[in-house]
Amino acid sequence: MRTRIIATALALALSAGASATALAETVKVGVIGPFSGPFALQGKNFKAGIDAWFATHGNKVGNDTIEVIYRDVPQPDPAQSKSAAQELVVKEKVQYLAGFYFTPDAMAVTPILKQANVPMVVMNAATSAIVTKSPLVVRTSFTTWQTSTPMAKVAYDQGIRKVISVVSDYGPGVDAENAFKTAFTALGGQVVETVRMPLSTNDFSPIMQRVKDSGAQAVFAFLPSGPTTLGFVKAFNENGLKSGGIKLLAPGDLTQESDLPALGDAALGMLTTFHYSVAHDSPENKAFVEAARKAIGNPVELSFPAVAAYDGMYVITKMIAATGGKPDAQKAVDAVKGLAWVSPRGPVSIDAESRHITENIYLREVAKAADGTYYNKEIATFEKQDDPGLKAAP
Ligand code: PHB
Repeated sequence: MRTRIIATALALALSAGASATALAETVKVGVIGPFSGPFALQGKNFKAGIDAWFATHGNKVGNDTIEVIYRDVPQPDPAQSKSAAQELVVKEKVQYLAGFYFTPDAMAVTPILKQANVPMVVMNAATSAIVTKSPLVVRTSFTTWQTSTPMAKVAYDQGIRKVISVVSDYGPGVDAENAFKTAFTALGGQVVETVRMPLSTNDFSPIMQRVKDSGAQAVFAFLPSGPTTLGFVKAFNENGLKSGGIKLLAPGDLTQESDLPALGDAALGMLTTFHYSVAHDSPENKAFVEAARKAIGNPVELSFPAVAAYDGMYVITKMIAATGGKPDAQKAVDAVKGLAWVSPRGPVSIDAESRHITENIYLREVAKAADGTYYNKEIATFEKQDDPGLKAAP
């Protein structure tokens, strides 16, 4: 009798142990971003956000272990991005694709998601239409429609009535121009001229001359954060526009924290609208900034792509929990529709219909702290902004 009980207990223990082992999966996440070249700092911020997530939450979801595999696409390059994604899916067997700093790199990968049975978590690319290209896309960053629309009200409230728009000539730039123009015109303002520059533009003097000649009181500008935004703001200051009383209004891509030391006092007082400031005052952000600064090494390098990467990892852990670590892209995406949480940037949620993030957009002013460091000081909040670009899109 006794022996039988022991034998049964042993069999039960063995089968429980065996099924626990069978359930433990290693879930691979392939992250595509610029990790070398002129935009390497932006990719480094993806990695810092992901490392900060692991440092504060660990790399386990139940019994499953998350493993991140990085692939470098240094510049916007749809063909390179697509082949990196295909290699990650076929050879590395990743269950999730994430990252995507540039819109063209995200757009190139959306057509393969369904067949690959892989969700995509966009951690930066900010053109509204990306989420409409596949039901398997979720975005934790922002859109330029979302960040540029409130700037129209800020401009109007400052008494500005005539603006020239200057943007990079690709998805997020065209969206930013349309967003600002739509909102500013509705208020009674006028966009006197629109300029779309090639993405490769790095001599901004001729543009600054056009701004002066336009007779506008302010320039609204969008360029993707990186060396070109630094060059643009410097050119604005050095070509006498600032001293001539012309205002520079932009979404926060133009004053990312890592550019502020190089811009120096010349950027003080510049107003931008954005979803995240490293200086956001909340316990969640304090914990995030501490972990992300440790991960990135040099504290002044921390910038906005890190927060969308950190939140992207949160979304991916929820997807892994819902699917038990097994590949089921639609079930994973369905599990995060409507998900709401407090991000380091403030309260956020994934819109159940669009799969894009609803978040606060903050008006910020470049300021100097007592210790001489520069930061984006939040001075007003536009609460719970969804993406106006999705309603405006044809
Ligand atoms: C984009 O390509 O979608 C993009 C890149 C950098 C930004 C914003 C948008 O700062």
